[in-house]
Amino acid sequence: MSYIQITPMPDKVFGATVTGVKLAELTDDSFTKIHQAFLAYGFLLFPGQFLSDTENIAFGERFGELEFGANPMSNQHRHRDGSYGQVFDVDTQRMRTNVGNEAWHTDSTYKPLSSKCAMLSAVTVPKKGGETALADQRAAYEALDQATQDRIANLSAYHSTEFSQANDLGDFPPRETDSIYHGEAYLRPMVKMHPETGRPNLFVGRHAFGIPGLERSESRALLKQLIDFVVSDESRVYTHPWTEGDTLLWDNRYVLHRAMPYNYSEPRVLIGTRIAGDHETELAYYPSDPAAQAGREALDTELSILRNETVDRRYGATTAERVI
Ligand SMILES: [Fe+2]
Repeated sequence: MSYIQITPMPDKVFGATVTGVKLAELTDDSFTKIHQAFLAYGFLLFPGQFLSDTENIAFGERFGELEFGANPMSNQHRHRDGSYGQVFDVDTQRMRTNVGNEAWHTDSTYKPLSSKCAMLSAVTVPKKGGETALADQRAAYEALDQATQDRIANLSAYHSTEFSQANDLGDFPPRETDSIYHGEAYLRPMVKMHPETGRPNLFVGRHAFGIPGLERSESRALLKQLIDFVVSDESRVYTHPWTEGDTLLWDNRYVLHRAMPYNYSEPRVLIGTRIAGDHETELAYYPSDPAAQAGREALDTELSILRNETVDRRYGATTAERVI
């Protein structure tokens, strides 16, 4: 018998808190209930789980193939013995990437295969700030006026984290094939049919740029307008104040998220596990595909413009001196 309780987030159109279950000892029956709730609510909060790395990975694997399992998403080095060292300087590439994630996004849209879902488990949290915020692109799509729904029905945008780092922060990381700064840009529809519920949702975020067929200014204005619209209604945004032991799981196919700022000299350690999307529904193309060339060109054109436009942004159109 299961005593799982699923309590919708008060005053929100998405999200639920799940209690009465130990994720470390999950039965198939309990997982079925959790999976149904995950599809219905978009994100689930599991308080007081204190999962080990192995348990984080085992829970993530219930949902599909992992992109990575139990990675410290932290502002400190993790030593081999599991202890944490000094806090990174805010000018290191690691912190530039962390700060970049303070703008709304879904994970891995800048890879050939975007992500299905992701989870974070809190180990060390700062005294103030450092929350994770989430926003519902499904409810937002449903709330759009008909003219906007019609306008975006057949539009796509390129996704690149070289673009978002430059655009949001004036950060130009060195390009390396095996990093997330790889020089490719992946074209994805701006309205996504959710593969498991069949419901449409907006699919935008900080990595999106360069809508083919639109002028640059028009494309930028439309993408900004859509993200602003998603978060314009408080019922579509939930900000989670972390407590150590929490595990938070969200659907990257329709929920936007971002980290909130905090005092970067304080430690913040969240253990991240990310599940890959399905080939049939989350694959854009691979770099070897002839379609990839247009993305590369769009990205390089965009970056050359941003070099001049971003000198006043946080990192002043610079590259971090040391790569970590
Ligand atoms: Fe993220």
